[in-house]
Amino acid sequence: MIIENYKRSYLAGLEVAERIASYIRKTQLENKHCVLGLATGSTPISVYQELVRMHKRENLSFENVYTFNLDEYCGLRKTHMESYYYFMFEHLFSYIDIPHKNIHIPDGKLRENDIHNYCLDYESQISELGGIDIQILGIGRNGHLGFNEPNCDMNSITRKIELTETTRIDATPSFGKLSCVPKHALTMGMQTILNARTIYFMAFGESKKQIVETAFTKNITEEVPASFLQSHPRCYICLDQYTNITEQ
Ligand code: F6R
Repeated sequence: MIIENYKRSYLAGLEVAERIASYIRKTQLENKHCVLGLATGSTPISVYQELVRMHKRENLSFENVYTFNLDEYCGLRKTHMESYYYFMFEHLFSYIDIPHKNIHIPDGKLRENDIHNYCLDYESQISELGGIDIQILGIGRNGHLGFNEPNCDMNSITRKIELTETTRIDATPSFGKLSCVPKHALTMGMQTILNARTIYFMAFGESKKQIVETAFTKNITEEVPASFLQSHPRCYICLDQYTNITEQ
């Protein structure tokens, strides 16, 4: 892993967006497609804002881009304002020229019986496109990546999981009260994430300081899923002045 300390979170966002844009442009020159793994939450918003700006002002096209989102809450319709589907259109997809058919976000409204095959198909679609070129990640206060909660399996693939209390409490302000926060979600697995060729992990702000330290300066442990990133050959850990750590 490569640790990059930025003074401010938005500077990290600009840099990550710039690198994604260069990669997209490179694949366009080669007449190839590219596959991005995307996250929701407050952390990647500055990346999406910059990508939108580059689309509008610098002719960055997303016509050859395929995206796969990390996760979605179970039980929420696409039109629900807290669904990750809604988030992605609100922050990125509505403003760029990505073909709608290239967008993949786990479906939160599947019937229970359909979930298993749906998740396998999500994995197959990623593989058929040649795997994820660039994966963006944030981190939960408990060390989750996507919704791979503590004690998940490093070899896990896309599946339905039960959200932990910490994750549901952290989501409560957006949903109004704890009882309104979904109890389950679909998430890409740890293996799906670790198979990405390049990863940009971002963590900003005081509230993430402790978990960042635990994940990247201590041993790899399934109790802290983000610590699995230590084993990834091309993972950039992008931090701000609050989460700043020096590689041990
Ligand atoms: C969301 C996701 C989560 C978030 C994490 C941090 O798609 O995968 O793992 O990245 O919960 O959320 P924020 O950025 O809101 O602090």
